[in-house]
Amino acid sequence: MTLSHEDSIRLFRNSAPYINAHRGKTFVVMFGGEAVLDPNFPRLIQDIALIHSLGMRIIIVHGARPQIDERLSFRDVHGQFVDALRITNKPTLECVKDAAGSLRSQIEALLTLGLPNSPMHGARIRVCSGNLVIAKPIGVKNGIDFEHTGLVRRIDVEGIKDQLDDGSIVLLSPMGYSPTGEVFNLSHEDVATQAAIAMKADKLITLSEYDGLYKVDEHESEKFIRTIELQTLEGLVKENKIVGEITCLTAMMAAVESGVERAHCVSFKENGAILKELFTRDGGGTLVLQNHYEQLRGAVIDDVGGILKLIRPLEESGALVKRSRELLENEISQFTVIERDGMIIACAALYMYPEDASGEIACVATHRDYRGQNRGERLLEAMKAKAALNQLKRIFVLTTVTGHWFLEQGFEEKSIDTLPPSKQQMYNFTRNSKVYMLELD
Ligand code: ARG
Repeated sequence: MTLSHEDSIRLFRNSAPYINAHRGKTFVVMFGGEAVLDPNFPRLIQDIALIHSLGMRIIIVHGARPQIDERLSFRDVHGQFVDALRITNKPTLECVKDAAGSLRSQIEALLTLGLPNSPMHGARIRVCSGNLVIAKPIGVKNGIDFEHTGLVRRIDVEGIKDQLDDGSIVLLSPMGYSPTGEVFNLSHEDVATQAAIAMKADKLITLSEYDGLYKVDEHESEKFIRTIELQTLEGLVKENKIVGEITCLTAMMAAVESGVERAHCVSFKENGAILKELFTRDGGGTLVLQNHYEQLRGAVIDDVGGILKLIRPLEESGALVKRSRELLENEISQFTVIERDGMIIACAALYMYPEDASGEIACVATHRDYRGQNRGERLLEAMKAKAALNQLKRIFVLTTVTGHWFLEQGFEEKSIDTLPPSKQQMYNFTRNSKVYMLELD
């Protein structure tokens, strides 16, 4: 793919909002030992280094299963599994330490790579690892002793925070130590999940052999999932309708359940997949979001009072045109609201111009206690979906003060004569609103 001069400039400009949004945020990036064997792995590590250099706090967690297996077979040790869980006896533990140690240096070396024609030329990246994961034994289950197979007991939050504050990338291996001085073999997804939760990470990014998660639909065909809320995902998992890498799936679900706001799954095979996911609006992988305990829904007549209360202050300040109760009652079916514990905290309306295949977004308002948390974006997404469902090709908005927000959402400023004719006739020149338009795809 070759980009024109304009394309590459546009690409860079479009990713800038995400560079700013992600700066200072903590991301846990997790991959299995399979990723390390992939030809794309050096590029993946360089991409992680690039993300770090843009000001994001990075914790890498790696796995080592194929590398452990390789060592076991080389030394003729027979691995023993119960319920897909490895029993780590003494000789196995030697292989675990060996594999994890060697992977660690391989990753450290790649993060140090800074040849003149490589992306991270001139950037000096420090990587830190150590006894940052405290482990406990799984113990004896159903009469079987799992020996040195363990679980995360505690993450050294302060220790990791110090390293991140210092500008280092933190690298965690699938191993942990106990206060009794023992070494335990851990699953990397357990380490990643617990680290993301304990560090209150903003994202858990899991790298998979696939480009994300798929949903099995009613015709038994697999549909790619771009974005999904945890609750919906849990339902589909119960029905056995999700296809994807199980380690990624479990880690994402556990992390989001415990408060990590966003978990992503992207391919480790595809060149630049992690950059695409982080720095474009639609990403390239699957995003798992926390449930919204707030409900976004079409408005009903009983909401009129709540909407009036919400928009009054904005009408008074002149940001919104005044609407009477009667008008609102008549137009209620055009409104979408977000309700939180019985209170309307945000609303927006979509007026359709079917003859022009366009729709006007109006009366967008969010309660002032709830601003700055993407509710506007959620409403806009709902409006876009509603417009698309009604075969509209574009949506537009007339605004005097919030033009910037719409520009950020991909709208473009247009002249009045691009409006549907009936709207043009009603245009109020004294308000002097600007027109912003978005073509739907
Ligand atoms: N780049 C944004 C982020 O990092 C949005 C990603 C959206 N990805 C998706 N699969 N829907 O949060």
